[in-house]
Amino acid sequence: MYDFQPDETLAPAELYRQLGDAADALTAGESDGIANMANVAALIWEFVPRLNWAGFYRVVQNGTEKELVLGPFVGRPACIRIPFGQGVCGAAAASGETQLVEDVHAFPGHIACDAASQSEVVVPVTRNGEVIAVIDCDSPEAARFTKEDARGLEALAALLSERI
Ligand code: SME
Repeated sequence: MYDFQPDETLAPAELYRQLGDAADALTAGESDGIANMANVAALIWEFVPRLNWAGFYRVVQNGTEKELVLGPFVGRPACIRIPFGQGVCGAAAASGETQLVEDVHAFPGHIACDAASQSEVVVPVTRNGEVIAVIDCDSPEAARFTKEDARGLEALAALLSERI
């Protein structure tokens, strides 16, 4: 049994350090990317307070186009396929840049998977300069995510580059 006991009162930098250590311990030496994404989605859910969705979309080649396809997550059932450039996830995948969205209703083309979502952060996972997946976190609170959340999730994405 894995029993991580995150303390929700931790400052974000320490919270993400502990989350990163837990993710490193759980994924080290495991070559199955789906298993690693599943465990990391569960860890994000346990460590990061005030979320209603946490998980992955994977970059998949569909004919001549790349698209995002739903991966392991915690939360309500979500849309399965997202074209590059569409929604917050598609913007992160197409640009290779983190999207920190204080108000999802103000984001052009935002894709609502759970009506409760008010704010969102999406971080690309890259390998050899290519986006291979994104980490997506949604919150029912407006402006829930800060640059510290973005930095913490970017560190997690870097750890996962060769593990998913
Ligand atoms: N809101 C996302 C879609 C994925 S769900 O939030 C899980 C978007 O606009 O890309």
